[in-house]
Amino acid sequence: MKRIVIVAAVLAFSAGAVVAQQDQAKKTQAMMKDNGKNAGALAAIIKGEKPYDQATVDAALAQFDETAKALPTLFPESLKGAKLDGDYAPSPKIWEDKAGFAQHAASFGKAVTEAKGKIKDVDTLKAELGVIGKQCGGCHETYRIKKS
Ligand code: HEC
Repeated sequence: MKRIVIVAAVLAFSAGAVVAQQDQAKKTQAMMKDNGKNAGALAAIIKGEKPYDQATVDAALAQFDETAKALPTLFPESLKGAKLDGDYAPSPKIWEDKAGFAQHAASFGKAVTEAKGKIKDVDTLKAELGVIGKQCGGCHETYRIKKS
C-alpha cells in the first residue's frame, strides 16, 4: 500500500513537472514570437511598406525591454529538452554556458535601453534597429537551433 502511494506521488510529481515545462515553453516561445512580430513591424517601416508610427516603435521597444528583463528566467533548467512547437529550439548551450547566455541577455537589454528616446523617424529607427537586431542575431547564432 505504502509503495502504491509513493508510485502515485512520483507519477503526480512528474506529470506536474511536465505541465510546468509546457507552460514555461509556451510562455518563452510566445515572448520570442512577439519579438519577431515587433521586429517585423519595425522592418516594414524601414522598408517603406508602412508609414513611420511612434506608437508601433514604442510598443516594440517596451516589449523588447520586457523580454530582456525576462530572459534570465525564460530558460530554466526545467526547459532543457522541452519540445517547443515553433521552427526553433533552445540550444543546450543555454545551460552549458549560463554565464555567456546571461551576458547576451544583458547586452541585449542594454541596447534596448540605449535605443529608448533616440528613435524619432525612419533614419533613427534604421540605425537603432541595426544595433538591436545584432543583439537578437548574436544570441540566436549561439543559443538557438533551427529544427529541420
Ligand atoms: C539572449 C538570447 C536571445 C535574445 C537577445 C533574443 N532571442 Fe530570440 N530566441 C532565443 C532562443 C534561445 C530561441 C529559441 C527558443 C524559442 O523558439 O523560443 C529564440 C527564438 C526566437 C524566435 C522563434 C520563435 C519560434 O517560433 O520558435 C523568434 C522569432 C525570435 N527569437 C526573435 C527574436 C528577436 C526579434 C529578438 C530581438 C529583438 C530576439 N529574438 C532576441 C534567444 C534570444
